[in-house]
Amino acid sequence: MGYPLPQTNSLRGPFQPMRFEATVEECIVTHGEIPKELSGGFYRTGPTWRRPTKQGNSPLISMDGMVQGLVLDNGRADFRNRWIRTPKYVAEERAGRGLFEWTDGGFGDWRDHAYGDVKRDEYTCGVPQGTNNINIFPFAGEMLASGEQGGPPIAIDPITLETKGVVNWSTKLSPGLHAKTTFGDASFTAHPKWDYETGTLYGWNWRDESPYVTIHVVHPDGAVESRDLHDAPYNTVAHDIWLTPEWIVMPFQPFTADKKQITEKNLGIWGWDEELPIIIGLIPRHDMDAEVRWIKTDLPAEYVMHTMSANVDGDRLTLDAPIFNRPPFPFPQDFAEGEDVALFFSVSRSFLGRWTIDLKTGAAKTEQLSDRPSELPKVDERFYGKGYTFGFQVGGVVKRNGMSMNSLVVTNMRTMAEQVYQIRTTEAAAVLEATFAPRHPASPEGDGYLIVPVSWWADRRGEYLIFDTHDITKGPICRIEIPFLLGWTPHGHWMDFRY
Ligand SMILES: [Fe+2]
Repeated sequence: MGYPLPQTNSLRGPFQPMRFEATVEECIVTHGEIPKELSGGFYRTGPTWRRPTKQGNSPLISMDGMVQGLVLDNGRADFRNRWIRTPKYVAEERAGRGLFEWTDGGFGDWRDHAYGDVKRDEYTCGVPQGTNNINIFPFAGEMLASGEQGGPPIAIDPITLETKGVVNWSTKLSPGLHAKTTFGDASFTAHPKWDYETGTLYGWNWRDESPYVTIHVVHPDGAVESRDLHDAPYNTVAHDIWLTPEWIVMPFQPFTADKKQITEKNLGIWGWDEELPIIIGLIPRHDMDAEVRWIKTDLPAEYVMHTMSANVDGDRLTLDAPIFNRPPFPFPQDFAEGEDVALFFSVSRSFLGRWTIDLKTGAAKTEQLSDRPSELPKVDERFYGKGYTFGFQVGGVVKRNGMSMNSLVVTNMRTMAEQVYQIRTTEAAAVLEATFAPRHPASPEGDGYLIVPVSWWADRRGEYLIFDTHDITKGPICRIEIPFLLGWTPHGHWMDFRY
């Protein structure tokens, strides 16, 4: 059956869907050369519109995940993109139509996200609602796609991008916002951190009922250690953490989610309650039974969506991140009934910042470290949990109530020296999140390459730019052409094939 493309903000401009699966072997390199020593894959996932939902519209989280992979080896690049064959995708493909209805799927305005519960019927009973469309990360030789809520991570083959299936440790995970629909239906964060040496994955799950958070530490053999945070202070959207040598550092911020807002008040799921204090949880990462330290701060109401990294120097804990004035999500105070959702960076902006915690006294302070709007922070992931020096971000300029992203920024977080390269000027393009790949497996921290996907969506083409971290201000050392519209994706990671 054919459909018109719905006219909503979530499908306009850079969000136009890439509705086909492609294989481009030996991609055209229009400038420079791909470093021969790079051997690995750069993978991303994003919500991709397949067809209207049963409710006739297209909330972002309802859209099926599609993985895009750029595999580099000996100076050659191969591109592939594939739908992620989630249980939901497979059921709807079989039926040839949208089968799902969400409690927040039928308003037809800013309240629709598909984060609410699914109305279960004979077609959807027993089928997890997850679309696995937020992030994809390496674990135990596979790439795992996660949507944060609605279903467990799904393993993807790093070469063919074939869906291998739900991870075999899904039965050991806990449910997130939604009740289990079948054996192994659970969920897992989209932003886990990991230990490069041991391969241990530090993840969690959040929900709007107590216990608000469950920690899940996953070992490469599939063993899972779990801990319910029964003393978590309140229901928060636990999207990201910092990892230190000793702790999982989880911020409880006044950005909340409550499914009852949908069903009882006819509102969207999100809330922003500036009266709630920011509380930092220091969760021991090596002992699931050790006491959690909760630090109630007097930080102003502000919001970290994605963390950069953290350092511990004596009694001083520094937590670095782009800090928003408020979450880039729609709240009841912003919109009236019938208004379309405004996406992400159009409703608020963030600047590189730092929360410093005195571990002796618990005193906290916040600092703004740059006057350039920035987000999508990344680091050299071999150093997750070990302290760090180099941070990478997409930078931009202030635009109306939000920001417009246009550049790559490398910051030495100890000296605050920075390098910037402006990737676009006035062209219609989306500069997407960068990913770091080390020059060699044993290179010092931050020594290597940054790969930046760019969607030149008005020209219906894409590019991957590779920068050398020695000096990004000289511009990309190579440009890899993608000869069609590169669909929007929020996040991704590098898998190194050299170790
Ligand atoms: Fe994210």
